[in-house]
Amino acid sequence: NWTMSRFVEEKISEIRAQVKGERVLLGLSGGVDSTVTAKLLHDAIGDQLTCVYVDTGLMRKGETDAVRTRFKKEFGIKLEIVDAESRFMAALAGVDEPEQKRKIIGKLFLDEFAAKAKELGHHEFLAQGTLYTDVIESVSVKGPSQTIKSHHNRVQGVLDMIKAGRVIEPLSELFKDEVRRLGLALKINRNLLYRHPFPGPGLAIRILTAVTRENVATLREADAIMLDELKTSGWYEKVWQAGAIFLPVRSVGVMGDNRTYENVIALRLVTSEDGMTADFAHLPYEVLAKIASRIINEVRGVNRVVYDISSKPPATIEWE
Ligand code: XMP
Repeated sequence: NWTMSRFVEEKISEIRAQVKGERVLLGLSGGVDSTVTAKLLHDAIGDQLTCVYVDTGLMRKGETDAVRTRFKKEFGIKLEIVDAESRFMAALAGVDEPEQKRKIIGKLFLDEFAAKAKELGHHEFLAQGTLYTDVIESVSVKGPSQTIKSHHNRVQGVLDMIKAGRVIEPLSELFKDEVRRLGLALKINRNLLYRHPFPGPGLAIRILTAVTRENVATLREADAIMLDELKTSGWYEKVWQAGAIFLPVRSVGVMGDNRTYENVIALRLVTSEDGMTADFAHLPYEVLAKIASRIINEVRGVNRVVYDISSKPPATIEWE
């Protein structure tokens, strides 16, 4: 695509002119935006870039290993992985209120990133995968109290660095579909670029009670089975987003000759244009049946699966 290869060339020379011989630190989530940002920066400045990935312990199955392989082996980008699982679990212990969970995770995430940055020594620049929509949503229309959502890419320390010209946000003029096309121009794997959205707070906001290692493990397995079956059946690309939800409810079941009394997993699959409104995905019964029977048979502690048939509004996509 001519426009995108032109854009890549321009951005690369812009980044080189700005960074010169100095060092850049990038917070990596492993999602589309931060991956494209990392690849673009690496093409521009090579080893002057270091990425930091915070493993919260709230990621999907295999995610941290996939990020490690992709960055270190495939891209050859310097990557620091912070194993922060135990600190996240400790900070979230006993917390079941959704907003409180989000605040704790957001703050700890930044603390972990900052601690690693300090350990790595001075980096002159901070890079972020901020998109045009992120910039708009964090700019207040009618004063600070009217901000649509406070974006973690715009916390005070970052704002100060922006003022000082020390933040690089090469995607800040782009929309998501343009970022995906940019990713293709940078030779990033198509499957990665067209992944579903996944919320920053991770599996924590899909567990409708206090997070424990045990319920995260249960949800992670159920989620992986659901994704596997969606990919096999060709439904992955047809839905906007899919997530399993851990319900802190137990119901009675039967396994062989024995009574069971175990947890319930809800499946939340939606179709949507932009995430603002959504309909539940009209999945064929056969696909639903396969997902349900596999989860019940393969995941310990789950004996029932239900399907969420709410639309947004009034229900949201995530349950918390
Ligand atoms: P809701 O639940 O508000 O979600 O209908 C709309 C979209 O936003 C995602 N989402 C988040 N993404 N951090 C994120 O990065 C968050 O805290 C967060 N909460 C919701 C959600 O997955 C859906 O795609």
